[in-house]
Amino acid sequence: MLRNSVQDSAGSRPEPGGPDCPCGADSPGTFGHLLRAHRERRGLSLTQLAGLVHFNRGHLSKVENGKRTPSVVLGAACDRVLDSGSRFTAIATALEAASRPSAGWVHPAQLPAAKRFFTGRRRHLKQLSQWLGDDRSLAVPVAVINGPPGVGKTALAVQWAHQAVCDGRFADGQLFVDLEGPEPGEAADPFDVLGHLLHAVGVPGERLPGDLHQRAAAFRSYLHGREVLLVLDNAADAQQVHHLLPGSPGSAVVVTSRSRLPGLLSRVDAATLPMTELCRPEAAMLLRAMIGDARADADPAALTVLAERCGRLPLALVLAAENIVSCQHPSADRLAAELKAEEARLALAEGDVALRHTFDASYRALDEPSARIFRLLGLLPGQVIDVAATAVTAGVSHAEAVRLLRDLASAHLIRQQDERHYLMHDLLRVYAADLCRQLDGGTAAVQGEDRAKTEAALVA
Ligand SMILES: Nc1ncnc2c1ncn2[C@@H]1O[C@H](COP(=O)(O)OP(=O)(O)OP(=O)(O)O)[C@@H](O)[C@H]1O
Ligand SMILES: [Mg+2]
Repeated sequence: MLRNSVQDSAGSRPEPGGPDCPCGADSPGTFGHLLRAHRERRGLSLTQLAGLVHFNRGHLSKVENGKRTPSVVLGAACDRVLDSGSRFTAIATALEAASRPSAGWVHPAQLPAAKRFFTGRRRHLKQLSQWLGDDRSLAVPVAVINGPPGVGKTALAVQWAHQAVCDGRFADGQLFVDLEGPEPGEAADPFDVLGHLLHAVGVPGERLPGDLHQRAAAFRSYLHGREVLLVLDNAADAQQVHHLLPGSPGSAVVVTSRSRLPGLLSRVDAATLPMTELCRPEAAMLLRAMIGDARADADPAALTVLAERCGRLPLALVLAAENIVSCQHPSADRLAAELKAEEARLALAEGDVALRHTFDASYRALDEPSARIFRLLGLLPGQVIDVAATAVTAGVSHAEAVRLLRDLASAHLIRQQDERHYLMHDLLRVYAADLCRQLDGGTAAVQGEDRAKTEAALVA
């Protein structure tokens, strides 16, 4: 939240818009009270300020007394002259929008549709409700859902959001924005995103502030005193998220990301909810819900095998179910048989959604040393990755192996089991092995004695 620099220096002065302030938040009184405090701190008379901002002294006096509503132009002039960031512009922008009935607050309802066959995740839904609950604290609750590609982060966020709205929360609206992470160069620019968000709540294009910090401040001003849910989907990094957060209580934020978003917690008071694949019964339930009881009952055991061959990853399960429903594969049994070959699993696709492409975006976001280790991990036998063995296999120091494995865990391409071990999801391992064969010549890339062991394990 923006701190009031006047209060910082004046100590006992009530915060404009705060509980001791004689005026309401974002009222003309807030602006006037703040303006007088800034002016006096600078030792400027009303006449001197009038000369600097090129406004009439009488008008300024009325603005200071809360009897006139300041324009955005005056707000910007005050910010320039009083060196107050974008505080006055933001308040004036919010006031102006509020005073124009046709261009005032537009109730946004941007949530995508919930999934008809949403399955499981009860613990996650409960956790989100606890964190994002209506606890009336001064903070804006932020929940970060993270996990590997296709694990169901967006589906969970949307499901929870709809439930919260049905329970009467976020009556002033719901904003949803795709931040287009994680590939560098592809991620949405917070400046543009703020433009879309401000536009969505009623700010006309010609009124959008021209600088990132002003837009962020204007967005916070618009959300002030309102109960809005903001879903920031597919965030690339902490910095991108940081600019977009509301500042005052009442609103809540759900962020989804494949990344752990390093650096976010030092900027924002957020709670993190990591996701993994569905449990066995839920994975089978999702397949059943999608393919229908008749097909599922024809061979329940095949359903279990199919779920395992999809690694219980929701995206793979959904693609498999769609394959069956569209009759590309007539039964769960036939598809499960085809997916016995690990490489065939990577080819799961329907329309423009392909498992491999979903993984590609995470892989392309890695720097080359991390990408190389990732590919090599695909060749190592077993699901468990030992840090020391990785160092030997990759021909790097132990410290370097630790660093690279942490990077991969941060991108949720592996997950930490304990201090010396990590786990890799089966489908990601198959994907990594495939890349290693294509780019590194397969086992030829493995260093030292481990090459023989790896070759033996691959043959076995
Ligand atoms: N619990 C669930 N029940 C039913 N379908 C689900 C569930 N979770 C995810 N899905 C479906 O699985 C697919 C992938 O889910 P989703 O897009 O939410 O994954 P994601 O983790 O957000 O992926 P990405 O990292 O690519 O953003 C979607 O079709 C989604 O509808
Ligand atoms: Mg998503």
